[in-house]
Amino acid sequence: MAFFSLNFSLLLFLLTTITSFSLTTSTPTIGVTIQHHPSSATPEHIAAAVNRHRIAAVRLIDPDPNLIRAFSYSSVSLLLCIPNTLVHSLAANRSNAAVWLYTHVVPFYPRAKISAISVGSDILSSSDDLADALLPAIRNIHVALHELGIRRISVSSTFSLIPLITSAFPPSSAEFGEPVNDHLIRPLLDFLEEANSSFLVNIHPYDLYRLNHEIVLGYALFQKSRYSFVDDPTTGVRYQNLFDTMVDAVLSAMAVAGHENIPVVVTETGWPNSPATLEENNANQVFAEMYLRGLLKHLKSGVGTPLKKEGVSGVYIYELFDKERGQGNSNASLRQWGIFYPNLTSKYDLDYSGSYRTAESNGFLKILAVSLVVLALL
Ligand SMILES: *[C@@H]1O[C@H](CO)[C@@H](O)[C@H](O)[C@H]1NC(C)=O
Ligand SMILES: *[C@@H]1O[C@H](CO)[C@@H](O)[C@H](O)[C@H]1NC(C)=O
Ligand SMILES: *[C@@H]1O[C@H](CO)[C@@H](O)[C@H](O)[C@H]1NC(C)=O
Ligand SMILES: *[C@@H]1O[C@H](CO)[C@@H](O)[C@H](O)[C@H]1NC(C)=O
Repeated sequence: MAFFSLNFSLLLFLLTTITSFSLTTSTPTIGVTIQHHPSSATPEHIAAAVNRHRIAAVRLIDPDPNLIRAFSYSSVSLLLCIPNTLVHSLAANRSNAAVWLYTHVVPFYPRAKISAISVGSDILSSSDDLADALLPAIRNIHVALHELGIRRISVSSTFSLIPLITSAFPPSSAEFGEPVNDHLIRPLLDFLEEANSSFLVNIHPYDLYRLNHEIVLGYALFQKSRYSFVDDPTTGVRYQNLFDTMVDAVLSAMAVAGHENIPVVVTETGWPNSPATLEENNANQVFAEMYLRGLLKHLKSGVGTPLKKEGVSGVYIYELFDKERGQGNSNASLRQWGIFYPNLTSKYDLDYSGSYRTAESNGFLKILAVSLVVLALL
């Protein structure tokens, strides 16, 4: 009888810890985009700073092979972006896709945890017409990966909300605009569904806020107040922040296109800490910190968005470093988004480690394994 009660309470303990453990893993992966970096910082310094701040994922725009290599043997997952300038050549010939993979993936994978590749970014805003080449380029990278025996790297493309959908409000009325929808987005969503890939989208509440004077600042900055909510008249859903409004607009547009089950990853979001022009008086470090604090709290709460309780599956903060002022951009007024100083310390007292696999959680898994063995012995 004593045996039984011991066993039983242990079992109960395990069940509750297992449950709470799996609950915590349902929050989105929190990562950061690296576009610019200080010339003083080596790839190894940058990778060490990311690890030190327990940032789980990094999105590399125009990835430098040395920077990819620097993330070897770390648990940081990498999203590599292929520049728009390569889309035509990747679409034209699969051996060009293989060449790209031979320089950016093969030498480092799987020691560097490359998890996804985005072919092109925001191609709808590009001056070149890339719409016809995009899907063939994505397929060539996908097939070339399979030919190399690599099946765990997913392939997609990144879009920006603003030219993509007809209007962000109310979210329930959002649709992908024509002719892009029929021509590009639907076939792309079919591919993503088939290949178990994600839809990647940049969500910049700052841009929408700047363009739309009816939006209350607190609503854009995750500040709860009597005034900072918006109701969707069609669904009756109340929105407490602009980020959720924009994410749900994407989800609605995907649902209209018949693909609401594809996971959504927010590849960029943030708030500028310094303005491009004097009129942008809401681009400053105080509001940037408020935005990020609100965003992180919201993501870690695991409540998702009104239309999707699991929410998005990942979010990359834009961006790790400010642009360097220097040749070409000596202009003192330059919109900046960096969350780290050039000396690789965080500007804000924030915990970016949403789902980073810490030594602690590894330790927890070990305790769990030991407990299971003990349980089996009893
Ligand atoms: C693709 O590129 C390879 C290597 O550059 C070349 O040998 C081949 O002829 C090209 N194929 C086509 C269809 O252009
Ligand atoms: C997608 O996932 C399903 C279920 O996990 C699996 O059966 C299928 O083979 C996957 N497809 C690809 C292309 O990886
Ligand atoms: C800096 O940028 C602002 C806004 O874009 C512009 O009005 C100004 O003329 C620029 N100054 C210089 C020195 O380029
Ligand atoms: C890093 O740079 C910032 C801004 O220049 C400074 O405030 C901070 O003290 C520096 N931190 C270290 C550890 O040097």
